This record gives sequence, C-alpha cells and structure tokens, in this order.
Amino acid sequence: KKEKIMCGIIGIASNKPVSINIINSLKKLEYRGYDSAGLATLTKNNINEKKCSGRVDELEKILFKTPSDGNIGIGHVRWATHGVPNVINAHPHSSDQVSVVHNGIIENSDEIKKELELKELKFKSQTDTEVITLLITEALKENEPLDAVFKTLQKLKGSFALGIIFKNFSDIIIGARRGSPLAVGYSKEENYLGSDSYALKSMTNKISYLDDGELCVLTKDNISFYDDDLKKVNKKIYSMSEDESTTDKGAYKHFMLKEIYEQPITVKNCINEYIDSLKKNINIFNFPIEANKINKIILIGCGTAYHSCLVAKYWFEELTSIDVEIDIASEFRYRKLKFNSNNLYIFVSQSGETADTAAALDICKKNNVKTCSIVNVIESTIARNSDWVLPIHAGTEIGVASTKAFLGQLMVLYILCLKIASIRKDINQSTYEKNIKNLNSIPEAIRKCLNTESNVQLMAKEFLHAKGSMFLGRGSSFPIALEGALKLKELSYLHAEGYPAGEMKHGPLALIEEGLPVIILAPKDKYFQKTLSNMQEVIARGGKILLITDIKKEVINENIRFGVRVPYIDNSLSPFLTTIPLQLLAYHVALLKNCDIDKPRNLAKSVTVE
Ligand code: AGP
Repeated sequence: KKEKIMCGIIGIASNKPVSINIINSLKKLEYRGYDSAGLATLTKNNINEKKCSGRVDELEKILFKTPSDGNIGIGHVRWATHGVPNVINAHPHSSDQVSVVHNGIIENSDEIKKELELKELKFKSQTDTEVITLLITEALKENEPLDAVFKTLQKLKGSFALGIIFKNFSDIIIGARRGSPLAVGYSKEENYLGSDSYALKSMTNKISYLDDGELCVLTKDNISFYDDDLKKVNKKIYSMSEDESTTDKGAYKHFMLKEIYEQPITVKNCINEYIDSLKKNINIFNFPIEANKINKIILIGCGTAYHSCLVAKYWFEELTSIDVEIDIASEFRYRKLKFNSNNLYIFVSQSGETADTAAALDICKKNNVKTCSIVNVIESTIARNSDWVLPIHAGTEIGVASTKAFLGQLMVLYILCLKIASIRKDINQSTYEKNIKNLNSIPEAIRKCLNTESNVQLMAKEFLHAKGSMFLGRGSSFPIALEGALKLKELSYLHAEGYPAGEMKHGPLALIEEGLPVIILAPKDKYFQKTLSNMQEVIARGGKILLITDIKKEVINENIRFGVRVPYIDNSLSPFLTTIPLQLLAYHVALLKNCDIDKPRNLAKSVTVE
C-alpha cells in the first residue's frame, strides 16, 4: 500500500547526548505532522530506536522511562494521509546497519519492494521509506556510506528529505534532498539537520539550505555538501531573522487565541517595515518588472493564503489599471497556461513551504517569468526560489489555523497595491497619502474589534446544535465570508458555506431553513443595500441572522439575532476588521465543542506534500 507522508525531520551530531534536544526540536516540528514520532541514536555502535504513535509527548515519556544515550541521532514526526499511523510505520526505519528518517513520497517503492523481496529481504512496515533503509543496507556491503546513499538515491523516484545514521560510522549523519525542504545548522562542537530553520532556532541561527539533488555529511565539527554528481559544493550561510514573538502560549489557553490577540502588534510591525510615515511613502523598491510595464498580476496561494489573494484582486482592480487573475496553486500547476514575461506572478504563503504553491512557483521559473513571494517564513523554500520577497513580519504562527498571517498577507498586498497604483499614476498623490495615513488607524481598530469577544462568545452558542451554517458577503467581504467559513470548518468540524451574497438565489438559498445560523458581512460600502436585501431573503426563510457591520446606528432588531459592530476606517479596509470577529467565532465554537484548537484533526500547519 502506497503511503503519503508529510513530516518533520531532525538530526544532531554533537559531543554530548542528543536525545533531549531531538525531542525539543521535534516538538517544534509538530506543526508539520503529529500522528506518530520516533528517534534513533547511536550508542556503543548500536542503533537505539524509540517510536510511538501519537504526539512527541508520548515519545518523551518513553525516553523518560528508558533514556537513550548517544551523541549522534535522528528524529521524526509524521503525518499520514494513507497508511496507518502506528508504531511500526513511525520513523525512523532501521536495519542492523542504518537508520533512516524521511519526508516525502517514494513513488516507485512498490517496484523496488518487489525486487528486494525477490532477494528474500523482509519488510517490517507498510511504508515506502523502508525501501531506502534496505537499499542503503545492501549498498553498504560494497560501498562507503556516502557512495551507498548516492547509489540508492539514483534508484528512487519521487520526493524526499532524508536523515541517515550508520551503525559502523558513528560520527556521521548523511542528509539528502529532492523536492522536500532540508536545512542544516552550525554551532560550536554541534551541527544539525532539520526540515526547517524554525526547528533549529533554539540551537543556532546559522543556517544553510540544501538545493534540490544535494547531499550533505555532518559531523559534530564539520558539514560537507555535494551536488547531484557527488562533487563537493560550498554553501552560503544565512543568519536567521530574530523572532520577536515568543513561542509559548503565555497567559493564553491556546496559540490561536494568542495569535488573534497579537494582531494589532503584528500589523503595526508590518506597517512600520513598509511605510515611511515622515515622507508619506511606501518603501518598496527593486521591482522585478518596472511597475509601469506590468501587464497583468497573477496571485496564487492555497487555503487562507488564497483568500488573501482574492481580497487583493478587489483592491488591485479598484486602485490600479492592471488586470488581475487569482488561482489556487493546486489548480494553477496543472493548467495549460500562457505565460507572459510582462506578467508578475505573486505567491502568497505563510509557511513558504506549501508543496502546491512551491510547485506553481517552479513552473513559473521554468517559463522564465518574474515571481514575487509574500511569506512569513523568510528562510523558506518559496522565499528562496522567488525573484522578489516581501515578508509579512507576523512572527512565528504556531496554531494550524492561520490568523495573524492572514492579516499580514492582506497588509502587504494592500501596501503593494498602493505602491503600484502610485507609480503608475493610477491614483493621485493626495489619494496615495490619504490611504497611507488610513493604514495607521488599522492596529487600533483591530484592538477595538477584539473587544467584541464577549459578544461573539454568546454568538458561538448559536452554532453548537446547528446542522450547518452560512457566511455571506459581497465585494471584498465575499473572500472574508470564505475565510470565516474555512476557519469554522477547520476548527469546529462544523459544516460552513461561504458564498457571495448575490449568488444565493442560484442554489444555496435552498439550504436556508428555520434556525440555520447565517453570518452576514455588511460593511458600509457600495454593496451595503444589496447585501441587506440578500439578508431579508434569508430572514424570510427563517435563517438566524448574525450581522457583522461597521455602520454606526444600532443594528439589532427583532429579525437579527446578534449584531457585531466593528470600527469604520475606509470602505476598502473593512476586510482587516470584519475578519477579527470571525476568527473569534471559530475559536469559541471550537472551544465549546472541546475540539483540539491548535492542532485540528487531519490538518497540519505546513502542507509539504501534494
Ligand atoms: C488556514 O487556516 C489553513 N490551515 C490553510 O488553509 C493554509 O492557509 C494553507 O494550507 C496555506 O498555507 P501557507 O500559507 O503556509 O502556504
């Protein structure tokens, strides 16, 4: 049975025992997957393997009872979409000679397995990874470790990031990368291998990244890199950015709530990075294509990042003379597209590691078009592979549900839109300056939106016994309706439909029945009256209305069950504010339903496989 995995890997070569640091790093990598975990260390030339199903906490308990010595080791957290997440399938996969951790998919594992079984070799697990273990073990009979790994890689199809230790070569870890991300970190008398720089952050801020096809050999004192011809290569060492946000929950019950409440600050940080308030100007330079020459902008992302692209489409259309297209990365990468070198392709991704978005970016690169990425993790694959990077400066986002990164993406997209509009003279100087000034009101307005929490908490109760729910909006409130519905689905496992309010009559109105909770997003923009008419259609069919608006007058009447008022700044800025009660709503419904808020079922923070 073919297994797909998305996971995190770590390796440490040191002059002191490594198991505790492996556990600590695996905890950081749990955002990539959390249905089983494992580690292997080398103790007196023995491979000492410990594995469990479930979270890294379980693995820690096992280690507490039976500690693992060893100054060299590898670890793994797994997320399976196929194949049972049990102890046997958990990584590492070891033979009597080697132990392997793997992130990715070996597409020809079935064929290799058959060949190895003909040689009477036995498999313990259902995973595709174990073929790597057995191939290296076979190759080691006639080769040194690096050659044995290299020869094994020639036989593999698919994607991988690997960490490998060897029973008889007790001072080395070999890493290899094709498709899946892999970083190394440097420290005094200790070196590291990891799926991302975040996992290594508490140990070092000196990082290099393996490029596709490369291998590395780590000892505690040295790291050597090799290209796909096994020729030695040198690597650039990056100093990682300082992360201002703490990575513990503080007084908050969940990371998600902490991250929702961080938004006034993270949005302010982002504004400070890009806006020169004194000169009333936007500090964005070095466009990969002159702004005047951009023919079309294509915005690409997945999930919440896609929703930020959708909001930006309304802004670009409103403020610039440029045509805008948006696409979901998993669709973009398989479409037959006409590329144009005057188009700017913008990739939006919090993690910068999303497989579909990264693949869509690769396609653009192959077609020689200019790419820009809007990311939170600036050391990520997508950031490194794009021509131009605009970070969102939101600080580490731990909760699987994206909150502060969404507002960060919106902020960078809005600022970029204003800058392009001004360079192209699509807006005049006074509109440009007025819009820049308006941005400064957003952090305080978000803070006011957070004050709606107690009201939203009451609203959440209306969803507890509901069969489903509906989120409606027009214009840029339509993507916010989609985002509100996505947040509710992923956190509370409750069915939620996001729809353009004007589309109701074309089908979804049939879903409205007595007591169905319907969230109406109705800021005072050009769609306001139309949205209210759509709301009446819902009321007439018994829907329970929960209205989010920025109009000043009292909104509650006998037909509206709840009203939440957010501040008004400017028509185009309402997405920054109406989002907040929707994030809080999803949080509180999930809390009432006792769901695992920071790690919703079946999901992972960084989707590194297709
Ligand atoms: C958001 O709450 C989701 N968990 C998900 O849709 C996410 O936005 C999507 O997977 C894209 O991730 P990225 O921004 O890291 O590329």
